[in-house]
Amino acid sequence: MADVVLISGSPRANGNTEYALNICKEEIEKHGLTAEIISLRGKQIHGCIACGKCGTQDCCALQDDLNEMLPAIKEAKGFIIGAPVYFGTARGDVMNLLQRVSMVARKNGNWLAGKVGGPVVVARRGGLTSTLQEMLMSFFISGMTVCGSTYWNIAFGNAPGEVGEDAEGMQTLQTFAANVSELIIQLRK
Ligand SMILES: Cc1cc2nc3c(=O)[nH]c(=O)nc-3n(C[C@H](O)[C@H](O)[C@H](O)COP(=O)(O)O)c2cc1C
Repeated sequence: MADVVLISGSPRANGNTEYALNICKEEIEKHGLTAEIISLRGKQIHGCIACGKCGTQDCCALQDDLNEMLPAIKEAKGFIIGAPVYFGTARGDVMNLLQRVSMVARKNGNWLAGKVGGPVVVARRGGLTSTLQEMLMSFFISGMTVCGSTYWNIAFGNAPGEVGEDAEGMQTLQTFAANVSELIIQLRK
């Protein structure tokens, strides 16, 4: 199991979300920690149906691709999730995942609490900061510790990989990932 789990919420192969998370992963690994990117590409993550069954089992009752990711998220010290902006909000599957993981964790000893990380958002042009705020709601209500950077964790790009040309965005993400890593290392002492 990796020290830090990074979820890529894009359906595109080699897309900008994955590019941005790879920048974070490299920085985390430079700090001597292990990191694993889990992509939602090709996966099905349905919305929470409020059945409450996660209260009697440490997983979700829905039969899709969420449960297989839960052990890695639960064991990790760090949790980072990246989303592309779709019509001014996070891609639906990303919020489905955040809401369902938050509920499973909450009903089973609040196991997300104390994890270190935060959201990362990419888009062509607009809706990045409101999407970041939307995703932050799950981090804060779950008691996770969100690290800052020199700017918000956003980067601009449209065509796959274009986000790499956003020099300030890449620097922001590197600093964010360095802060996440340093905090995890401090907390271990
Ligand atoms: C359905 C859809 C809606 C989108 N809505 C927005 C938007 O509101 N604002 C924006 O700047 N980009 C928007 N985009 C562009 C993506 O956010 C952008 O291409 C992003 O880099 C995709 O990330 P990915 O390569 O990780 O999939 C949209 C793209 C799609 C497919």
